[in-house]
Amino acid sequence: MQNKYQHNSQTFPLRGDKRGAPPSLIYLIGFMGCGKSTLGRHLAKALGWKFIDLDDHFENKFRTTVPLFFKEFGERGFRDAERAALLDMENEEKAVVAAGGGTPCFFDNMDFMNRTGITIYMQVSPEELARRLSEARVVRPLVQGKTGEELLAYIREKLAEREPFYNKAKIIADASKLNLDGYLRILEGIRDF
Ligand code: S3P
Repeated sequence: MQNKYQHNSQTFPLRGDKRGAPPSLIYLIGFMGCGKSTLGRHLAKALGWKFIDLDDHFENKFRTTVPLFFKEFGERGFRDAERAALLDMENEEKAVVAAGGGTPCFFDNMDFMNRTGITIYMQVSPEELARRLSEARVVRPLVQGKTGEELLAYIREKLAEREPFYNKAKIIADASKLNLDGYLRILEGIRDF
């Protein structure tokens, strides 16, 4: 990680509609514990947009909780349902969406997000993620019960598997250094809010 952020060089995506209106969705992606929901709330407030946590939307849509859904249908079932929850975002406008940590890594979810909005990968080191996740109170089925070295080893392995997907984001941000203003500056640089 040399820069605080880098802007992937592809042409900036326009919304899927043919009129070519500028994107009015921002997707925050990255590993569990990278701070998507916290930043999402602040960013949405600063922009005067809506904040949507995809896990919350999932829980409202399917009237259950993520851990219960995992228990009942396994990860495969969860990914199918998560995909359906993600597709609902196409109907949203002026919203900051915090994706789940695994959302970008299944089906063509990453392409969908890049087509319908601005994607920001919030990059955080495995050590920092392990520290944050071991302190978190939210139940996350994939890391539940893991601590210390086992947690760190799991994060390293999973992150290596997921980064090729995360790296397709339009913006890659060093999330342990950037504050809200930093993100707003990046966004101002790529479109007129
Ligand atoms: C997951 C991350 C979680 C949630 C589910 C699976 C993952 O979301 O979607 O537990 O596969 O990384 P957060 O990243 O918001 O914790």
